Amino acid sequence: MAEKRIGILTSGGDCAGLNAALRAVVQRAIHGYGWRVFGIREGSLGLMARPVDAVEFDLSLVTGDMLRQGGTILGTINKGDPFAYPMPDGTKVDRSGEFVEGFRELALDALVVIGGDGSMRILAQLCRQGGIPMVGIPKTIDNDVARTDYAIGHSTALNVACEALDRLAPTAASHHRVMILEVMGRDVGHIALSAGIAGGADVILIPELPYNLDAIVARINQVRAEGRNHALVVVAEGCKTETGQAVTLRHVDGEARYGGIGHYLADHLSDRVGAETRVTVLGHVQRGGMPSMRDRLIASAFGVHAVDLLAQGGIDRVVVWQHGHVTDVPLSEVAGITRAVDPFGTLANTARGLGIYIGES
Ligand code: F6P
Repeated sequence: MAEKRIGILTSGGDCAGLNAALRAVVQRAIHGYGWRVFGIREGSLGLMARPVDAVEFDLSLVTGDMLRQGGTILGTINKGDPFAYPMPDGTKVDRSGEFVEGFRELALDALVVIGGDGSMRILAQLCRQGGIPMVGIPKTIDNDVARTDYAIGHSTALNVACEALDRLAPTAASHHRVMILEVMGRDVGHIALSAGIAGGADVILIPELPYNLDAIVARINQVRAEGRNHALVVVAEGCKTETGQAVTLRHVDGEARYGGIGHYLADHLSDRVGAETRVTVLGHVQRGGMPSMRDRLIASAFGVHAVDLLAQGGIDRVVVWQHGHVTDVPLSEVAGITRAVDPFGTLANTARGLGIYIGES
């Protein structure tokens, strides 16, 4: 097979397992096909920079240590859409042409994009515009990428959230408190639902299901009636107030970010449940740290499959995990599409079966 030159970048929020995917792509490309692999730094920014900001990988750079390393050695960004790039004077400029030129400058044959649904949408548009063959690898702690059961990073985030509940439970019990844990997930509740079940929560609130405060109070009272003087509540950051108002924080750059629903709940529940409530906002600790075994495994399988796909001429596809197997689907079925929690799927029904209040169905 003719030697190929492939580029690889990580885009969107970082998460655990990205380096394992990079390692797998490089190892498969070099060992399997004798190709050359160029790592592009800072997501799409690397190809827009002049000189282009990229590094050629060789096998000495991709050791087993990458399996253990959180974050991404290439760097990443989750803003700065090249089609509407924010300039220092506040204007937005279309820099998509520079991205395509950067790709040509490196004389690449294809691009492997490790990103979530949002990154995949923008990168797919850029690649379409430049006639760039692209293969996607899904990553995000939120696990909301369409058509795949798992995205890289979700498993590690779940372990962190579950461990947080393990650590909150003894304090809840010792002080007879209601402990509220706010987890990430943007507009979906995959982290909250899975970690809540595994961590023994009594109430799990997810953006996909409306809830009412009376029902939460009733569930906590029921816990008491069953002889337990404390409770655990998990809430996804994207949940709205009982009346449907979004709860967001405002950052200095003016961009809205989720955060605050845990404190809203505490304010509205404390008096009514007759117990002290405390809130823990887990935040970015869910993204970092040593990748879980499952994230390393999925990332490795995704990386190998992505390269094999390119070798078979597969382009504009995304590698996915379905029913215990790695496979691939058209990019158009993934880019920009969010996979929400199925309110009547296995996990939601499991939670209900355990007596956990998960909102109104
Ligand atoms: O999409 C991953 C994610 O961690 C979300 O769960 C969260 O809302 C967001 O990114 C946080 O983004 P940032 O790192 O920009 O604060």
